[in-house]
Amino acid sequence: MKKLLIVFILTCLTNYGFAQMSRSNVCFDKGWFFAFGHPFDKTQDYNTGTGYFSYMAKAGYGDGAASKDFDHRAWRPIDLPHDWAVEMPFDSKGSHSHGYKAVGPGFPDVSVGWYRKTFVVTREDKGKQIFLDFDGVSRDAKVWVNGHYMGNEPSGYQSFSYNITDVINYGGENVVAVRADVSMEEGWYYEGAGIYRHVWLRKTLPLHIPKDGTFIYSELDGNKAKLVIETEIENRGLKTSAYSIRHYILNKDSLIIDSLISHDAFISAMSKNLQKDSLSLNNPILWSLNHPYLYTLKTQIKEGDRIIDEYQTSFGIRTVYFDANKGFFLNGKHIKLKGTNNHQDHAGVGCAIPDELIKWRLQQLKNFGCNAYRSSHNPPTPELLKYCDEMGILVIDENRLMGTTDHALHEMKRVIKRDRNHPSVIIWSLGNEEWGIECNVLGEQITPTMQRFAQNLDPSRQINVAISGGCNNGTSSVVEVVGYNYLGQWDTDRHHQLFPNQPSIGTEEGSTYATRGIYFDDDEKHYKAAYDREPRANWYSIEEGWKHYAERDYLSGMFIWTGFDYRGEPTPYAWPSVTSYFGMIDLCGFPKDNVYYLKSWWQDEPVLHILPHWNWNGKEGDTIDVWVYSNAQEVELKLKGKTLGRKVMELNGHLEWKVPYKKGTIKAYSFKDGKLIQTTERSTTGMPDEISLSASKTTLSAKSNDISVLTVEVKDKKGNVVPTVNNIISFELDGPGKIIGVGNGNPTSLEKEKFVDDYKLITLPEVAEIYEEGEKVLTTSFQLEELPTEHQLLTWYYKYVSEKQNIYINGVLITQDLLKSSEKAQFALNNDWLRVGTNTITIEGKPLMPVNAWTSINKQPGVIQILNKASNWERKLYNGKAQVIIQSDAEPGEILLKARAEGIKSKDILINVE
Ligand code: GAL
Repeated sequence: MKKLLIVFILTCLTNYGFAQMSRSNVCFDKGWFFAFGHPFDKTQDYNTGTGYFSYMAKAGYGDGAASKDFDHRAWRPIDLPHDWAVEMPFDSKGSHSHGYKAVGPGFPDVSVGWYRKTFVVTREDKGKQIFLDFDGVSRDAKVWVNGHYMGNEPSGYQSFSYNITDVINYGGENVVAVRADVSMEEGWYYEGAGIYRHVWLRKTLPLHIPKDGTFIYSELDGNKAKLVIETEIENRGLKTSAYSIRHYILNKDSLIIDSLISHDAFISAMSKNLQKDSLSLNNPILWSLNHPYLYTLKTQIKEGDRIIDEYQTSFGIRTVYFDANKGFFLNGKHIKLKGTNNHQDHAGVGCAIPDELIKWRLQQLKNFGCNAYRSSHNPPTPELLKYCDEMGILVIDENRLMGTTDHALHEMKRVIKRDRNHPSVIIWSLGNEEWGIECNVLGEQITPTMQRFAQNLDPSRQINVAISGGCNNGTSSVVEVVGYNYLGQWDTDRHHQLFPNQPSIGTEEGSTYATRGIYFDDDEKHYKAAYDREPRANWYSIEEGWKHYAERDYLSGMFIWTGFDYRGEPTPYAWPSVTSYFGMIDLCGFPKDNVYYLKSWWQDEPVLHILPHWNWNGKEGDTIDVWVYSNAQEVELKLKGKTLGRKVMELNGHLEWKVPYKKGTIKAYSFKDGKLIQTTERSTTGMPDEISLSASKTTLSAKSNDISVLTVEVKDKKGNVVPTVNNIISFELDGPGKIIGVGNGNPTSLEKEKFVDDYKLITLPEVAEIYEEGEKVLTTSFQLEELPTEHQLLTWYYKYVSEKQNIYINGVLITQDLLKSSEKAQFALNNDWLRVGTNTITIEGKPLMPVNAWTSINKQPGVIQILNKASNWERKLYNGKAQVIIQSDAEPGEILLKARAEGIKSKDILINVE
């Protein structure tokens, strides 16, 4: 093994540079166009697939919106990630499980979304392999490139990829079209709609390492790590080639610390090789929760002396193991899993979560001591794993659907291959609560097959399934690591007794209800008080659940259902509740009080938290339940300076007082070994006086579309935050950025979450030939219910129906002698030309002639786009809080956000982008 210095790379600069040029991966998120299609009405789906020869009949015969030549100028311009579901209004007829958005089952007009993007590939790229990589599309995505059907990805959670090399128009324009259809649901929770994760355009040489083509894992022996490396090599060239592989291990400063050179090998045309190597590293820096150290494996493929590919794999050196009696071990050290389950959506943005918001969300979980994340019930976005690697968070990576057909196994394989280099991923979950199989013989048949298959792909991790049945047969009798969903359904001690060699995790616990900032139940208002209570008979509160898990060594830990609230499943309520009540933090990430229970026992810093707030005007003399969460030994409570007693804190417990309400200050004092260590208080506030804005970041990077998450509150004259106000706040933004979403964590809020321009399209009927004053002219018409307002813009994107034309709207000449050979025409429609009711278009000119006997001429004169400009962003506070998410345009400058509300002082905040 040679130790190489950085100097070595410098001397290889030319080769290195070539390898860089031979592979590129460009973010493909910008510059798309979007419009709704239709799941069954072909005319509303741009007549796609209606041709005599369909795209399944002949290569490249994508018609309608799938066609290369389709004119999408009138569609709405958008950048990814995009979730159109979050832009939809709420509707009582919407899906309960998905949060009552007017989309999906029952809403066919807005359940198919089309995306199109044009792009240029230069002639210099001919000879390379070109791929389109989709990180995830919700759902049932069909993709065409230049009218060629690429394939279909049914799941909204899989990453998928198409090799588009041979359908590319080199040196010219290309078009990708994507049709997503959410008219059937995949999960039982909000899933978003559309291309809600990133898209990439990847280029390599024909001999290359395919996507997810490396696998590196470690075995530890004393102060040595054995690194096992598997490399896939693909030859899409047309002849056999010889190559060699060189691996470099880089430390976090990109310095080479070790390397490995393989022998020359041959690879036939159009085939794949798999090469296994291993390398032993002395004194590795281990990846751990407090020190999530990452190495990079740089793999070079050489043809002779020429580096033809270079592939980087980020990895951590660590071992993970679940023990049947002692729980979970990271690098041989015991760690209790303190986890949360989470779905993907966030206030204001739905599932289209900017990378930086993913990171921000993880930080909110970490803030209360959460060390583990279960990606329920689907594989996460790749960036989530990247951040978990960087932040030291452990992940249960979950497959969507259990099954052992080739298709089902292939789904699992793609998840494992995509995610197995992430040190944060500690276990694979094959599935969740598979009611049809978990407690019967099918579970006993399906689970071992999937398990063995997964172990072949990754010998370094164990396998889990989350089970609700509480049965001791079926899946739970054969799975490597059993996942208990709810102590209300499981006797874990009994199961452990029956299966003493089987490790276990509390994959779901809690499912308790709480509305942030609410302290009295009120079923009419759909309020669930914050005090941690059992959600239903024989179920466990968070505290009862945690005590059970904390007290038993054989249990690896517990994952609360859930970290964040999410849209859908508003149990125990229904409409107009649209989000869950389960979260420790609400949909915006504002903590509910239960967070402080977990924070007290899930991390070591001193915690002292009182609930409720102390604004109980009208309840003077009434008894208020005061709870204190703390990890101190003793806590004393005082109201207006008068003691209410000092109490001893039990391990994993909380303290309670019954306090007759008097306005003023209620204050808690915590003690360790008799010494005061912390105080905290809640005071009755005055009237609302001024808006307050605080930003997660006041300086954003200009290098990416960075975000800042702003909390909006109202303060009284003394500067105390008023916890009970619900003012409507409006926002205005100036500078190189935009607001991308607003929220307030109110489960019953039916307010808009996005204020974006709305596009309606009128596809003009085909023209008819008529005679006007003896002359043959073409005519068509469209209807307007009202004349455009100042907030509307009408643009006609014209499609030529004549070689040279004069065009009239309602008799007014709008263009003369317009030649087909000129650029594509578009007309901003002036109100003076328009009328309510029928508007007539007349076109006089030289008719189009068919090119030959079997082609038809165009008779459809294009599309009128009605652009309804977005109204101003606004949001009501909910129990004193709202959230605004700002995203930079990735340009330097100053973003100014102004917040206004009636009757109180406004507030501005400046965010620098540099
Ligand atoms: C579980 C299920 C979760 C969620 C939760 C609500 O049974 O796995 O996805 O539905 O119930 O309590």
